[in-house]
Amino acid sequence: MSTSEQKTIYLKDYTVPEFLISKTELHFDLSADKTLVNSRLNIYRNPDCKKTNPDLVLMGEELTLIDLKVDGERLHPEHYTLDDKTLTIHNPSARFVLEISNHINPSTNTALSGLYKSNTMLCTQCEAEGFRRITWFLDRPDVMSIFSVTMVADKDEYPVLLSNGNRTGSPNIALADNKHAARWHDPFPKPSYLFALVAGDLACLKDSFTTCSGREVALEVYVEEHDLDKTSHAMQSLKNAMRWDEQAFGREYDLDIYMIVAVSHFNMGAMENKGLNIFNTKYVLASEKTATDADFENVEAVIGHEYFHNWSGNRVTCRDWFQLSLKEGFTVFRDQQFTAHQTSEAVKRIKDVNMLRTHQFAEDAGPLSHPIRPSSFVEINNFYTLTIYEKGAEVVRMLHTLLGETGFRKGCDLYFERYDGQAVTTEDFVTALEDANNANFEQFKQWYSQAGTPTVTVTTSYNQNEKTYTVSFEQHNNSPSTQADKEPLVIPIRLGLLDDNGKELNLHGEQTSTVLELTKAEQSFTFTDINTEPTPSILRGFSAPIKLQQTLSIEQKIHLFQHDKDAFNRWEAGQNCLSYFIFKTIDAIQNHHKVPPLPDELVGTFRAILQQPLADLAYQSLLLSLPSKAYLAEQMSTIDIDALYQAHRIVKQTLASSLQDLWLAHYHANHHVGAGTDSQSIAQRSFKNLCLDYLMALETDEVRSMCIQQFETARNMTDQIAALAELSHLDTSINVSYFDAFYQQWKNEDLVIDKWFALQACSETTDALHSVKKLTQHPDFDMKTPNRVRSVIGAFATANPLHFNAIDGSGYEFVADNILLLDSINPQVAARLANSLSHWKKFDSTRQQLIKAQLSRIQAHTPLSKDVSEIVSRSLTA
Ligand code: TRP
Ligand code: ZN
Repeated sequence: MSTSEQKTIYLKDYTVPEFLISKTELHFDLSADKTLVNSRLNIYRNPDCKKTNPDLVLMGEELTLIDLKVDGERLHPEHYTLDDKTLTIHNPSARFVLEISNHINPSTNTALSGLYKSNTMLCTQCEAEGFRRITWFLDRPDVMSIFSVTMVADKDEYPVLLSNGNRTGSPNIALADNKHAARWHDPFPKPSYLFALVAGDLACLKDSFTTCSGREVALEVYVEEHDLDKTSHAMQSLKNAMRWDEQAFGREYDLDIYMIVAVSHFNMGAMENKGLNIFNTKYVLASEKTATDADFENVEAVIGHEYFHNWSGNRVTCRDWFQLSLKEGFTVFRDQQFTAHQTSEAVKRIKDVNMLRTHQFAEDAGPLSHPIRPSSFVEINNFYTLTIYEKGAEVVRMLHTLLGETGFRKGCDLYFERYDGQAVTTEDFVTALEDANNANFEQFKQWYSQAGTPTVTVTTSYNQNEKTYTVSFEQHNNSPSTQADKEPLVIPIRLGLLDDNGKELNLHGEQTSTVLELTKAEQSFTFTDINTEPTPSILRGFSAPIKLQQTLSIEQKIHLFQHDKDAFNRWEAGQNCLSYFIFKTIDAIQNHHKVPPLPDELVGTFRAILQQPLADLAYQSLLLSLPSKAYLAEQMSTIDIDALYQAHRIVKQTLASSLQDLWLAHYHANHHVGAGTDSQSIAQRSFKNLCLDYLMALETDEVRSMCIQQFETARNMTDQIAALAELSHLDTSINVSYFDAFYQQWKNEDLVIDKWFALQACSETTDALHSVKKLTQHPDFDMKTPNRVRSVIGAFATANPLHFNAIDGSGYEFVADNILLLDSINPQVAARLANSLSHWKKFDSTRQQLIKAQLSRIQAHTPLSKDVSEIVSRSLTA
């Protein structure tokens, strides 16, 4: 399909549904290559709908119709019309029962949307529009109905039969032909995208949770038998999340059972289906031996995320898909608060901001930029973006900052109470926060409709005579997208002032930190009784998703790096110093000048931080880390990959050699083979592996043997993978034996083998592309397994900029070849890969031409999914 034929859906065209469904009864006779679906729908005309279209139009794709009945009577062919996307019932009455029988084929469903087969189990994925691949339905989130499900399947092949809600009747009922049946009923009305079923031969970890009102909830985590030993962390995470949501948001769980199922084939991270979450194995399974500390943290965060959706997403859902950030932005904010509570607030905030500024800012600066509430789309699956999720969470965070913790909580309470059981909009969310607090967020709402990352420029002036200090702001929205008349935004700026001794000044009474509310394009704030010119600490905690432009001297930056009481800004000041020198070094390389030295004060501050271990060792590791090359690249108008790599390396080597003894001492002090999973051990590992990373930049034989020693003796995955990552950049002839050993050790653990693939795909060695091509021929590589595709092709395209952007275009060509191969198998995952080709404007003209040539080649290919087609055409037209 060409671009012009793509059907664009607009928010402005939204109308309420013409029909509603009060009750949905589904009957499945399950088998891998022919499943029979019988549905019985109680349908009625929506009294709120003004339109007078006499027909009912149901959505359905890839279905084989067997039978159709209205109020018990078989429907004659002249009373309905069928095409490949819809089933139209002509002129039905105002209220009737529709019965549909159809077949589907789970085993050929490689798109992993609808009902599909993963290894030996059957499972579903219905968000956003997958339910229509199960049976014909009003598959839109504002049609909510009560689901009852009967599942029939072979007893031996599918002993476990799960669906949403509570089990009804006795355990599985035995039937003829070695079959059995299970019944489920979900008392909460829900949209079809939250429907789920799972059938398989699964092992289960059981536990229970007593809610704040004293109800007991059964908790069940289902996995393939061989993974049962990796489920305890997921279970503990679930219990932590349930307790936290009660305490932080007053939200209690509402069914008798909560189930999580881990599947190997999954397009994204996980799915919040009511009472029956389905997860990518990557976000469930964790044991010290096979999962890194980061994996453990991600499991808890994603389990939390899906659990929190039970209120922010399920009890209160989205009116239409333009409102996606209503549930995703809010739920990400909630999971961020949860992780901050479970781990370290400062560390969590720094990690989230790093991710946002590296990847969401890049998305928002390129051709795929869109507001957190988009106004149009072609394929909704392409809008599960960093903007909707991460920037959406930042917008909720700003509301939290503006209202304060108590006001925000009052607003959320009102939101959940007022809209429980409804499908609503982002406007409704903001209105609830306003109403509960007597606030006015009219101007703030621009954040929902305006794309792009605003820039805020700060200037300061001190008046010695009056003892006043004035901070002036100017905001600009530099979004490249063609959005007319950009109004000023409401931007909360948290600020503090430091004196020459690093002491915080009192701003209002005892307060040393205050939130300024920018509402105009230009605005100034004056502080009085300021006895000497202070050092400003601006945008504390990263209080708004903006680019701050501030001209601080290197001395001021170092002053903040040493003294700022705001943990985020202290870290940020250090990053600013380092970025400044890396950019200066890039400049010198490009102009063939002498590389500037790192100032002694900066090295001295690093030394001081290294010499004086902080209580929060994980935070200390971040203070001492270099800004990532990807984050630096995002800030360059034209990315010069080679100069960036060289400059980054030079600065790293300088810090490594100047502080060599300290890195080494801390490495040894914090290295314990096979340590535990408590937060102190985790922090020690991250600190120790940071030391190793600096030391490896020295390229000495001693350090290399130390790294090999760590690899060979590691008893936890964090240490083993950290060492292998270092070795992966050494010459292939050296590292091959370690990769072979690792493969032999872990060949039966898919998630570990994904890491094995990914590390090779990210290697900086000269023949990396050649190795990556070989990896796609490896017997363990499989285009039908998204995790595998992401670990090879995805990792190469997004985490190996050196080789992806090779000047001969070989990296782009390889990725484009694979996008086309994958498109006919799994368009959603193919479209995600295609995002990697959207940043062409950031490169020199040679690379721009090379990337555009690949985009055009993909665009010209037939057939092409609308998923990939939308991404490439938007990438090319911007
Ligand atoms: N709603 C899910 C979440 O963020 C993600 C999701 C959306 C998803 N669409 C999907 C997961 C398709 C898998 C496949 O929690
Ligand atoms: Zn979500």
